[in-house]
Amino acid sequence: MTEAVFTGSAEEVSPEEAGLRYEVDGEIATITLGRPDKRNAQTFATWSALARIGDSLPQQVRVVVVRGEGPSFSAGIDLRMFTPEGVPGQGSFASSATLGDSDFEQRIAQAQRGFLWLRRPDIVSIAAVQGHAIGAGFQLALACDLRVLADDAKLCMKEPALGLVPDLTGTKPLVDIVGLPRALEICLTARIVGAEEAARLGLAELVVAPDDLAGAVRDLAAALLAVNRDAATATKRLLQGAAGRTLEEQTAAERHEQVARVKALFAGS
Ligand code: ACO
Repeated sequence: MTEAVFTGSAEEVSPEEAGLRYEVDGEIATITLGRPDKRNAQTFATWSALARIGDSLPQQVRVVVVRGEGPSFSAGIDLRMFTPEGVPGQGSFASSATLGDSDFEQRIAQAQRGFLWLRRPDIVSIAAVQGHAIGAGFQLALACDLRVLADDAKLCMKEPALGLVPDLTGTKPLVDIVGLPRALEICLTARIVGAEEAARLGLAELVVAPDDLAGAVRDLAAALLAVNRDAATATKRLLQGAAGRTLEEQTAAERHEQVARVKALFAGS
């Protein structure tokens, strides 16, 4: 098992500011948001660290677990961003507002990179969520392919209540999962969605008692790893592309993937 702490930013940021732990154990990588005393609040350093983990993920990893230490998965963006002082070494919303539009969008794109890789076809990402998952916390859970929730989980898209939009890649999976009207209602009221409702809406694959969360995630990871790796990757690719294709295009994509599979399995046998 290897373990590393990421400072996560080209800027001078302490590991505590990035607040992440990262462990690889065989085919499973585990990313832990590790600032429980601050309810795992996230900063630009957190997102840079996430992107770096994605960039350097060992080839053997097939399952990525994203979890939070302490009572909350994540209370979202570090509220110091809203203060004039901001987060040491990382600025504030006020300092970001002085950037040109294109530079500011580039900064957001950098942050989004930390989330986007979790959807890669060659891995399956699982969010293990207990307690609050607010704003960036909810979006991090949405960035994962699957969500296992403790029954005390509380999901909230708080951004509109703070005058912002959700911009950490969460809007598309939310709409894809719950549909436009429910996504609108959840975001524009910024209300809390509890674990039971989340399961009903498809936002959780599984809801378990808090003490069972780690075990449930372990079991799910083991089940995912029991399937042929290349078949899993090809199937995820197929499923991810399905919504954007016609039936004809999708069946053609199925044929294409299957020819490659059967040849890989049986050519020359
Ligand atoms: N940023 C920075 N610090 C935070 C954050 C945050 N987002 N959330 C909690 N903390 C800190 C608190 O300031 C407190 O620090 P202190 O002990 O030094 O005073 C500590 O974490 C514990 O917080 P409590 O509020 O005491 O914990 P509690 O369990 O009672 O409540 C809750 C948890 C509900 C998550 C609450 O902390 C909260 O509402 N946090 C803010 C949520 C928020 O608005 N996030 C922004 C969303 S928008 C976006 O992410 C883009």
